[in-house]
Amino acid sequence: MKDLGHYRKSYEKSELTESVLPEHPLELFSAWFHQTEESGGADEVNAMTLSTINADGFPKSRIVLLKRYAEEGFVFFTNYESEKGDSITRNPKVCLSFFWYGSERQVIITGVAQKTTKEESDEYFSSRPRGSQLGAVLSKQSRPVASREFLEKELLKLEQEHANKTIARPEHWGGYIVKPLSIEFWQGRPNRLHDRILYTLTDSRWTWKRLQP
Ligand SMILES: Cc1cc2nc3c(=O)[nH]c(=O)nc-3n(C[C@H](O)[C@H](O)[C@H](O)COP(=O)(O)O)c2cc1C
Repeated sequence: MKDLGHYRKSYEKSELTESVLPEHPLELFSAWFHQTEESGGADEVNAMTLSTINADGFPKSRIVLLKRYAEEGFVFFTNYESEKGDSITRNPKVCLSFFWYGSERQVIITGVAQKTTKEESDEYFSSRPRGSQLGAVLSKQSRPVASREFLEKELLKLEQEHANKTIARPEHWGGYIVKPLSIEFWQGRPNRLHDRILYTLTDSRWTWKRLQP
């Protein structure tokens, strides 16, 4: 067994004090997002882990890209018929999390996912590069496929069929908006005494409390 016990890092870059906490957690999310972006504190600052509960009761996590955020929620795009799409249909309670290693920060959001409007999905789909659009048309995401060659040949065929044509968004592809119910902000601190502030939404009002590290 490989022993990683000596991997040790002290978190010393910042702190999260009560004095800076806004009423709405989105303000703090936004500030952290921009600070991470500006300081180069993550290669893909909008990459987040999406966890869902599968049909067999097991949680599953994978990375998706955050494409929009506002007070109403956090938006990502995917294949509605993928494993995650199936899980969300069964149980729309999901978790999103970010690890911004450069700023030694973590954000964990729990919430309820629902499909974005068709208009919003259309608008985003039309802004994507053509190759990504064709990939979305082609891929039966999460299903088995015989070979990579099969996908590449299908892509060539699709490219020829759609030459000089606008590519319409397939019905099976679109956005989800995760409406947050809780947002936890974690700032690494020395001696493992990290700062943790948990915001929760009750009766349309956000309140926060400090959690033990
Ligand atoms: C950096 C990164 C970004 C990704 N962005 C997305 C995304 O925005 N949407 C998506 O459907 N899959 C994205 N993926 C792929 C997913 O992690 C996953 O493999 C795919 O959605 C299938 O998941 P599922 O079979 O659990 O439904 C991304 C993967 C990585 C590593």
